[in-house]
Order: sequence, then C-alpha cells, then structure tokens
Amino acid sequence: MTVSSALFTEAQLEALKAKFQQAGQGHVFTFFEQLDVKEQEALFQQLSELDVQRLNQIYTKAIQGAEAAAQNQAASLEPLSEQVFDSVLKASSSTLNDWETIGLTQIAQGKVAVILMAGGQGTRLGSSAPKGCYDINLPSKKTLFQLQAERILRLQTVAAKYATDPNSDIVIPWYIMTSGPTHQPTYDFFRANNFFGLKEENIIFFEQGKRGLSVDRKYISMMINGYLLGTLPCLTMDGKIILETKSKVAIAPDGNGGIYAAVQNKGVIDDLKKRGIQYSHCYCVDNCLARVADPVFIGYCVSKQTDCGVKVVGKAMPEEPVGVVCVRDGRYGVAEYSEISAEVTEMRNPDGSLMFGAANIANHFFSTEFLERVPTFAADLEYHIAKKKIKYTDLETGEQVVPKSNSGMKLECFVFDVFPYANRMSVLEVDRKDEFSPLKNAPGSGADCPETSRRDIVAQHVRFIEKAGGKLVGDNVDNFELLQFEISPLVSYGGEGLEDLIQGKTITVPAVIESVEELVRLAQ
Ligand code: UTP
Repeated sequence: MTVSSALFTEAQLEALKAKFQQAGQGHVFTFFEQLDVKEQEALFQQLSELDVQRLNQIYTKAIQGAEAAAQNQAASLEPLSEQVFDSVLKASSSTLNDWETIGLTQIAQGKVAVILMAGGQGTRLGSSAPKGCYDINLPSKKTLFQLQAERILRLQTVAAKYATDPNSDIVIPWYIMTSGPTHQPTYDFFRANNFFGLKEENIIFFEQGKRGLSVDRKYISMMINGYLLGTLPCLTMDGKIILETKSKVAIAPDGNGGIYAAVQNKGVIDDLKKRGIQYSHCYCVDNCLARVADPVFIGYCVSKQTDCGVKVVGKAMPEEPVGVVCVRDGRYGVAEYSEISAEVTEMRNPDGSLMFGAANIANHFFSTEFLERVPTFAADLEYHIAKKKIKYTDLETGEQVVPKSNSGMKLECFVFDVFPYANRMSVLEVDRKDEFSPLKNAPGSGADCPETSRRDIVAQHVRFIEKAGGKLVGDNVDNFELLQFEISPLVSYGGEGLEDLIQGKTITVPAVIESVEELVRLAQ
C-alpha cells in the first residue's frame, strides 16, 4: 500500500502495525486498507495515542484480580482494627467536640478544600442535565449544587470564629470535577445562578480525562508513564481491543478513579499548594446529605495524621449489596459484596455490630501530599472489569453488531483503589440518616431516587428543630415525603445555632426558612 496521508508516513504506519501485532492486537488494522484517508488518519491517531503494552498489562492484572476474587478470598480478608476505625455514633461528645474544633481551626487557617466528583453521566437517573442541577422537589426547589454551595458558605461563617484574625476572609475552595458531557452545562449552571453566592475565583472546574480523540499532550505523556487515563479501550472477554466501527476503537470512561489523573493534569494540585491547602474532602455530587468539608471528619483525620481517610456507614443488614472497607491481603481496601462469603458477611463483633460492616460511601479525606504521591504507584493500580453490551464490528463480515448480551468489558479504576497505598489510613463511621442518601435511580423507583433524597433532607431538618427543643405543627408533620418544611444550610449546617432561637417554640408548616430572621419570626 502507498500511503497518501499527510499525518503519517508509510514507515510510521508499519511501525505502529508492528507494535500492535507484537502485542497481539494486530486485528485493529483489519479494515485499514478499506478506509478512506480521513478514516485512516482517525484510526492512526487513536491507535498511536494508545499504550498497547500498558493496556495489555491492565487487562492481565484485572483478570488476575477477578480470578482471585472468584476463588473467594475470605481467608485473606480481615476486619478493620480499632486503631484505624472510629465511629461518631460511639464517640463521646467531648471527643466529637475536639474533632470538630480541630476541623474548624484548619478551615479557619485556610488549609481545607473540597473536591467534588461530578463527572458521572447519571444514566440510571435518566436526566440529561448534570446530576447536581437536579431538582429533587424540595419545598425550596434547591438543586443539589445549591445545597452544597450553601453548606460551604455556612461553614465559612462558622469557621470564622476560629480564626486568629476575626476579620479574615475564610475560604473553602471548591474543586469541581466534571467530564466531557457535564463540563459546560455545569459551568453554565453555576454562572446562571451567580455561583450561589460563592466567589467565582474559589470555584475551580476541571474536566476529568478527555474523551474521544481530543489530544492533550500532557495527558498522553502521563499515560506513557503508565498513569491513569480518562478513557480506555473496551476489550473482548479475552482481552482483544474492540473495534466499534472499522475506523474507531470502542472506548469508555475509566471510572471515578480518574480523579487522581485529573487533579495532577488539570493543575488542581498546583492550585492546592499555591493556596496552602493541606487537606481535601472529596465526595460525590449525588449524596444530598453530604456534609461538605465536614469539620468533624477533617478534625478526626488530622488528629490521626491521616493521609487517606474514608467515611463509612454501618451496613444496614448483612446481605446489603455494598462494598465494605476492610483489610485484604494485609492492605486496606474495599471488598465488594460478591467477594465475601455469606458466612463471613454474617460475622459479628462482641457488641453485635457486623465485623465487615463498614459500608463505603465514596466520601474521602486526602492530604495534599497523598494526592501528589499517587503517580508513584498509579501504574500498580488494579482495574475492575465491568461486563457490558458493547457494540462491535465483526472482524469477518465487517458489519457492526449491537449485542443483546454482554459482548465485552470496560475497565474501571475507582476512587478507593488507592487505599492500599495509604501510609496512615483512618476510617470514620457516621450516621447514615444524617450523612448518606444517594440519588441514583429514576423518579418512582422507590430507592435512592429523588423522592428518597427529598424525604431524607426534610426528615433531617425536622430532627434539627426537635433536637433544638422546637416543634412543628400543621399538615403532614409526620409524613416527610409530603411535609413542606425546610431550613436553609445558610441558617444551620448540621443543626448548630438553633437552640437559642427555637427552644420551647413552635413553627407552623408549610415553612421554608432561608434566614435567621425568618426563623425568629416564624418560631412562636
Ligand atoms: P456513579 O458510579 O454512581 O455513576 O458515580 P453516575 O454517573 O452518577 O450514575 P450512573 O451509574 O451513570 O447511573 C458515583 C460518583 O462518581 C462520579 C459521579 O458524578 C458520582 O458523583 N463519577 C462517576 C465521576 O466523577 N466520574 C466518572 O467517570 C464516574
């Protein structure tokens, strides 16, 4: 064949073919001769950006990991020791107070940031807009992004009392990780809402790995060093690259573990260091109860000199299908539900709690030093196999097939895959009803859906009032799905500051309280 492309020479094409051939992936050139120049160039570019040896390594490791897990590794799983595990449900109020004071002091000193993972496409929810823009039908109609922004605003005010200079401007920078499909709509939404009262300069939007063929040189060089990429080719069950069309490799995002590459490559770590940030709280956009920059969690982790920490909730029951934080093969990690035998799942501590009961909720603490260290072990991270129905081009007929059953695999790395590399891991159990209510499923599905998100927030706000000695009267006070009551995070982040205002008083619903003044007026 004589090459007519300006993008590559014949020698370059032959070299690329040889590389793929050697790696056992030469089939990707099956249709090359049939393509027009534009298509050849597109395929050439996509393939030359791919470190095929590294891809093969990722596949082999993923397969080995899956096989080991399938052989039931109960013997190599150990529960967390008391040294690394604490619970807000069991800690004394003075310990909780100490953790909170440490956390607020760190915030007041400008050492704390939040990193939000908002790059998911929310396919199960079924909304085309980013999840954070979703209206869960709260009485106030606030979106998830607005709730989170207001929690940050409130915390900045609360932390100001811990500053050495009472006039200093307390800032908790908010790093928002988006992805190709969510980036522009997320930014536009914040802009249209005037950044919810936060300063624009303190909200940093950064995009997780580029998709498709877009070329980002720095990113690719990171990949050559074996570093995590934003997308990976889809593979057949025996590890062969899938061609989606004759001129295009099928690719898929490589999971929320892509956050580590993104913070390196998109200047987040540089910005953290420039701002003097030492600790970050990292959470998922879809947890409507997320305690953003939670001072208790920050203080807990700082007091234990943690570099990588995680919040968990107690497993609701042994058979709840969630991953649990534990020790696997002597290192911290998350054991998926399917990896643990029924017998081990049922094992209990002397106090009756489940031995393997620390359910992972993707809520993390990272020191800046830890985030910076990730590239040193990124090449060793294990990927997980997700079997999926992936469109492919039949290598014999050249026809595209849309399969009805799983035809191949996506390889994903998760945010928790770095746990084995923590120098000082700490795990804090929190109260599920106060901190975890994820929005995953479409309206009406009955679990982890907009209705449960709304219900859990309203129920929490009622608890705030009752704990402060107040009372609600009016319609639906016991039905949190219908009750029209809400108290803005701008008034109270976690129930604080209400007692003096409402003890012994009654609020008549419907009521949406947006300010302390309004609360004072409505509490009779
Ligand atoms: P999920 O894995 O639940 O995915 O994300 P999702 O996109 O929200 O929903 P489905 O699976 O498509 O229905 C958990 C968290 O990780 C983030 C999501 O935004 C969410 O906060 N995430 C997920 C990313 O930031 N990037 C990704 O590539 C995937």
